Amino acid sequence: MKQFLDLISDEMKAAFEAAGYGEADSRVSVSNRPDLCEYQCNGAMAGAKLYHKAPIMIANEVVAKLEGSKVFSEVSAVQPGFLNLKISPDFLAEYLIEQAKDEKMGVGAPEKIKSIVVDYGGPNVAKPLHVGHLRSAVIGESIKRISRYVGHKVIGDIHLGDWGLQMGLIMHELSLRKPELPYFDEAFEGEYPTEAPFTISELEEIYPTASGKSKEDEEYKAKAMEATFKLQSGVRGYRALWKHIIDVSVADLKKNYANLNVEFDLWKGESDVQDLIPGMVDYMKEGGYAYLSEGALVVDVKEESDTKEIPPCMILKSDGAALYNTTDLATIMDREKNYHPDQLIYLTDKRQDLYFEQVFRCARKTKLVEPATELVHIGFGTMNGKDGKPFKTRTGGVMRLEYLIAEIREEMLKKILDGHAQSKEEAEEIADIVALAAIKYGDLSNQASKDYIFDIDRFTSFEGDTGPYILYTIVRIKSILAKYEALGEKADDLAFLPCESEAEKNLGLMLTGYGAMIENAYKEVAPHRICAYIYDLANAFNHFYHETKILVEEDKNKQKSYISLLMLTKRQLETCIDLLGFSAPERM
Ligand code: ARG
Repeated sequence: MKQFLDLISDEMKAAFEAAGYGEADSRVSVSNRPDLCEYQCNGAMAGAKLYHKAPIMIANEVVAKLEGSKVFSEVSAVQPGFLNLKISPDFLAEYLIEQAKDEKMGVGAPEKIKSIVVDYGGPNVAKPLHVGHLRSAVIGESIKRISRYVGHKVIGDIHLGDWGLQMGLIMHELSLRKPELPYFDEAFEGEYPTEAPFTISELEEIYPTASGKSKEDEEYKAKAMEATFKLQSGVRGYRALWKHIIDVSVADLKKNYANLNVEFDLWKGESDVQDLIPGMVDYMKEGGYAYLSEGALVVDVKEESDTKEIPPCMILKSDGAALYNTTDLATIMDREKNYHPDQLIYLTDKRQDLYFEQVFRCARKTKLVEPATELVHIGFGTMNGKDGKPFKTRTGGVMRLEYLIAEIREEMLKKILDGHAQSKEEAEEIADIVALAAIKYGDLSNQASKDYIFDIDRFTSFEGDTGPYILYTIVRIKSILAKYEALGEKADDLAFLPCESEAEKNLGLMLTGYGAMIENAYKEVAPHRICAYIYDLANAFNHFYHETKILVEEDKNKQKSYISLLMLTKRQLETCIDLLGFSAPERM
């Protein structure tokens, strides 16, 4: 179905044509003076230049052509030539019916279905998740859901960091603590135990300990590097131990991400593409792309139009070791082969901007991807504490994600218990749901590239631009609908009548913007557009709710029409929060 703004712009264009000004840009936009009109058109100003005529004259002629319009109930020309517009309530009701009938409420099918890989999360095995990983997971999940909802084929890949020095650190520390383990015995030829020789809590303690030691002790670090090398060159015991670390850690990660309502289609990691690296390196050398520079193998990626220095992309270090970008390039090769993506989207901290610029240029130059493949890096800003500095624990350490979530839950639970007399269990269940909304909305409502302040008090508030406010609105609608049905009525979603009050009309007009909003959020890769929309929609709804007696309305048809508005509002809000990656409780 056509977008509402397109439809009303068509009506306007026809009037401009009929008046003889068909060349003028007569697109209609939402009014920036809502006190005067609902929509506006500045086409007469544009026409004035083309037709050498006073804008007000053009505007007046267009007004005359719109007399009797089924789309506009009011069109007025005001100095110096603006067209102020109001929508006909009948036309609005018809549009809302079409929208409610449409499965996606006006979101059109894409011209071409794209295959998209979203690379997000990116946790490092055996290192606890910290708040820095939160944004990648939260924003990536939403982008994946939006792209899929719009109609594309989307794969979410976690791209585990499972191949680096952290593995060697853990293994070396273990070899000191439990030297008797068969993994460290190079002469061992039997089967290794199926049980891991550590639990997740031990693992979480081992890594920071080992990492701390390696910073102070050169020899310790050298041993850890040696262990990393043994793993990477395929020493049997090290591979078996590595597998245990992965299994224990991944099981824990799965639990953590499930709590965040984040789901990956692929749990691939850096280790999965290591076998592709030698072939890729040969290919880059043979193609004349890669050359030796001070012993290291590099590919130049600078371009003439560069205004800043873009250093070459290093493929192998002088000791022959692969790097972070070597693995990313091999992963691009792997994705190209397996999924033929039209688009690859990466989510990391924006401090990796230059890094991805290099990797993307290198992938293009060396033709690892088709020229048409879009490579997109969404670099997000830092999550800061109220002091404007990166979020820390009270004692100044790196905040673990679990603790942060627990803190928000605690705060939410307090507020929920304050408000109502439900059982403790029920309140806890609700607190879990609302806390997730508070965190995700707090993050996603900011433009991703910006830093933001993680403000627990504000994020958990039931008022203002927050997740809990949106959920509260949905719960309010659910409760009205339940009461309506308890009166023995059947809620209908297509019974829209021409609106009467201003609050009702505002809500109706708001709802028409859904399709265009979703399409923009997708195109701009911008979940914050959805947050802005649902905040406005929730406000429009609550305003309508306060102005309108819904359940005691005596005119049954009118009441049915209100209920249809409620149902469409609820459907849009619920779809949107699902795209943001959270859900609403039944009560709160
Ligand atoms: N593991 C990396 C980190 O913690 C993030 C990985 C991002 N994805 C990628 N394809 N490089 O910084």
